[in-house]
Amino acid sequence: MSDEVKTICCIGAGYVGGPTMAVIADKCRYLKVIVVDLNKDKIDSWNNEDLTKLPVYEPGLKDLIKRCRGKNLFFSTKIQQSIAESDMVFISVNTPTKQTGLGAGEASDLKYIESSARSIAEFATGNTIVVEKSTIPVKTAEVIKTILISSQKGLEKNSTKSFTVLSSPEFLAEGTAIDDLMNPSRVLIGGDSKTSINALVNIYKNWVSEEKIIKTNIWSSELSKLTANAFLAQRVSSINSISALCEKTGADIREVAKAVGMDYRIGRHFLKSGPGFGGSCFKKDILNLVYICKLYGLKEVANYWEEVLKINRWQQNRLTTIIVKKLFGTVTSKKIGILGFAFKANTNDTRESPAIKICSNLLIDGARLSIYDPKVKFDEICNNLKDLNNANGNSFKVEDFISMASSYEELANNSDAILILTEWDEFKKIEWSKIAKLMRKPSWIFDCRDIIDINDFKESDLNIWKLGFGSNVDNLK
Ligand code: UDX
Ligand code: ADP
Repeated sequence: MSDEVKTICCIGAGYVGGPTMAVIADKCRYLKVIVVDLNKDKIDSWNNEDLTKLPVYEPGLKDLIKRCRGKNLFFSTKIQQSIAESDMVFISVNTPTKQTGLGAGEASDLKYIESSARSIAEFATGNTIVVEKSTIPVKTAEVIKTILISSQKGLEKNSTKSFTVLSSPEFLAEGTAIDDLMNPSRVLIGGDSKTSINALVNIYKNWVSEEKIIKTNIWSSELSKLTANAFLAQRVSSINSISALCEKTGADIREVAKAVGMDYRIGRHFLKSGPGFGGSCFKKDILNLVYICKLYGLKEVANYWEEVLKINRWQQNRLTTIIVKKLFGTVTSKKIGILGFAFKANTNDTRESPAIKICSNLLIDGARLSIYDPKVKFDEICNNLKDLNNANGNSFKVEDFISMASSYEELANNSDAILILTEWDEFKKIEWSKIAKLMRKPSWIFDCRDIIDINDFKESDLNIWKLGFGSNVDNLK
């Protein structure tokens, strides 16, 4: 098999596939890169002349698309044709947690992986290297291989079609995706075909130094991704558990995190307390880990990782309880402003966002919400909050109780409280003394961010509650 790859195709034009392929196209101008998706609207958005309409918001992405689109980067719904002309096919489709059937609530649903593998089996020509990029459970490569091999059995003897499968999980974090792809901490490639591994290494070598490229067997590669995400999520749950203790004891979680993180064995990153982790990966990957541990009879290991998820959910419920208590035990008919709905700053992604649980809790308790997020649209918010029942068990129309605020003033006007959930830079510029005048008295700010100095609120007559901040919690005036 030649290790010269000229055309690559990526199945799945989402948060991983789109940015990853944009960076590969930018760094390897000699390659033709085609990103395909079943979803025509999404492909149309990727092809939109107006770059503010791209389906994924990532700092730096617009510039890349401008440089490469139509030159060596293409977005298309022509899946069959694109696979057929490619030497290497990346699978970057979604793998949501199964809702029904075996493993429901824990195992990943591999139906999109399976249908991608079937498309590759059918339409690929010649020697094709298949690269799994989606976050997937361990042993998914086996599923892909089985589908590809069974398709080969039906082929005529003189067919030149053949496949190899590599696992190369993507470690990018949303909000910093382009930077992470341009300067990755490592590139992991798992597989047993040296020629195919080299073909992928040759692509990355264009901008990543070889010592950062790790070659492993395919299962180590798959399990490394799950483990990395589980460790990161565990750090967030660890610091969040201590944030609750800070509030009780008078300590400040930021001071504790700094002191702890300066131990080089622990490290300072990923120690920010907040409303809990969200995003498409952490919960799903831990659930996958829990599922396979149970499958292999490792009950204690499964229980250990499950606790990371329980603390995360507890943090969100804990926050809601604090808000309700501070507002005299009830939020019924009270207006609460929500700043930030995506799962973190600098993204438009709302998957598993802590805002979903917290807003749902508040709506169930009867609150009216005015929401502002720089990148998330009203429909997206409604989709995330649908199917709620009030305290009496009766369903209600969420749209009647939420509205999008187009300014901070609109959000604050007549509100009893504002809850700050994410760390967008623009929230740092809010003039709280002005905002305070618009709110009902006593007015509350519940600030879940890690970065803002408490002095920001000093000039106002607001009551401030800061996550993980133990002293003077009730009023920082
Ligand atoms: C994560 C991994 O970082 C990435 O390597 C993997 O490829 C996909 O999953 P992502 O979910 O995009 O990336 O974002 P990340 O920055 O890891 O944040 C995940 C969640 O943890 C967010 O909700 C974030 O707000 C939260 N978080 C992160 C904290 O609460 N505190 C921190 O210190 C860091
Ligand atoms: P991720 O965060 O992993 O990138 P997304 O949900 O953002 O996940 O993107 C995955 C994309 O994969 C979706 O746009 C979905 O339409 C696409 N997809 C799923 N299955 C297939 C398939 N069989 N062929 C082409 N595209 C697919």
